[in-house]
Amino acid sequence: MPVAGLTDGAVEIAPGVHWVGALDPHLRSFDIILKTANGTSYNSYVVRGETGVAVIDTVKESFADTFFTRLESVARYDEITTIVLNHLEPDHSGALPELLKRAPQAKVYLSSRAQMMLKALLKPTGEKPPEYIPVTTDDQVDLGGRTLRFLHTPYLHWPDTQCTYLVEDGILFSGDIFGCHFCDARLFNDRVGDFRFSFEYYYAHIMRPFREHVLDAVALIEPLELSTLCPAHGPILRKQPRDYLHRYRELATPRLFNEAHSEKTLVVFYISAYGNTRRMAEALAAGAERIDGVRVSLYDLEGGEDGIFTDLIEEADGLAFGSPTINADAVKPVWDVLSSLTTVNVKGKLGAAFGSYGWSGEAVRLIEDRLRGLKLRVPVEGLRIKLVPDAGELDACRDLGEQLARHLTGRLETRVIDMAELA
Ligand code: FEO
Repeated sequence: MPVAGLTDGAVEIAPGVHWVGALDPHLRSFDIILKTANGTSYNSYVVRGETGVAVIDTVKESFADTFFTRLESVARYDEITTIVLNHLEPDHSGALPELLKRAPQAKVYLSSRAQMMLKALLKPTGEKPPEYIPVTTDDQVDLGGRTLRFLHTPYLHWPDTQCTYLVEDGILFSGDIFGCHFCDARLFNDRVGDFRFSFEYYYAHIMRPFREHVLDAVALIEPLELSTLCPAHGPILRKQPRDYLHRYRELATPRLFNEAHSEKTLVVFYISAYGNTRRMAEALAAGAERIDGVRVSLYDLEGGEDGIFTDLIEEADGLAFGSPTINADAVKPVWDVLSSLTTVNVKGKLGAAFGSYGWSGEAVRLIEDRLRGLKLRVPVEGLRIKLVPDAGELDACRDLGEQLARHLTGRLETRVIDMAELA
């Protein structure tokens, strides 16, 4: 479908370098969870050298016709020597099987992890498979006067991802990183509407869980001469491309102050119907504070906002969640926070659960299961207390806090085992 302001032909980025992607203005959610208020684009690029033509990424399968029409406007299939796959997610590899049929002579350059994943993506056709060439940082392809150099940038946001740098033109084809779901036929960042929100929203929902990998990638890219960033979605960043690189560095850098960097941080979240789980939380926090080197924070989920909690969670070393059990479940504000954990990297953090209950007390086990599912460590069994905690039970809460703090600092108590216990 033609989109207003854009012809069916390729769009020139630089002499011999073209955008041959597709616009999807009516998409309203991407991968189910990501809102796309004005759609998205699937960006594919063609680079022409004196001895070869490269196609970098393709488009979602349902937009293949548009892609091939644009591609044919700048290259014949028998000229294509090189196909680069920066990322295999179907929004970029959907037209690949057909492209391989039309340009069977092309060599396919991709990361080694992508090569492993490709089998699951491409159904066997019975035809001779193309030549796959796994590449990593500094490997390059000569197109005749034009050089494609690869950068190994995994987990942005799949294990397979890589970036491809067109050396002579200073153009980086970056895959999803630096992209956003923002559909605008004017294509270039100095022409399109205000896409700042989409750019930041995309980072927060796609790249944020992989911020260490983002920083690694930014470090690889920063030394490059950069005239244009060509991401796989959204505007082509030709005006002040380095601003977007700097913004990614800012976004991926830890954002909370930690005056004492050597301290471990434990954040205790709770919500309480009658004050019982709150008393448990306070006792747990007090117990954790007995251990030097642990900074403890206490937050009532009833009085906060998701965005701030997400920041706290991202920076914390340990997380304890307190919930009463209502109707055999943890309460919704706790689940809301637990569901938001998919947008940050929590793998390996310490997790724990506690809560007061009236009849059955399922909340604690359910929270622990969720924490384990998110790959947090849950080394200490959670604490369930029936209704009002008495003095002894509050002592148990303090002990739980102390144990968690010891696990955080690595200062576990040595336990002397009586030989009679082993009998
Ligand atoms: Fe745009 Fe991860 O696919």
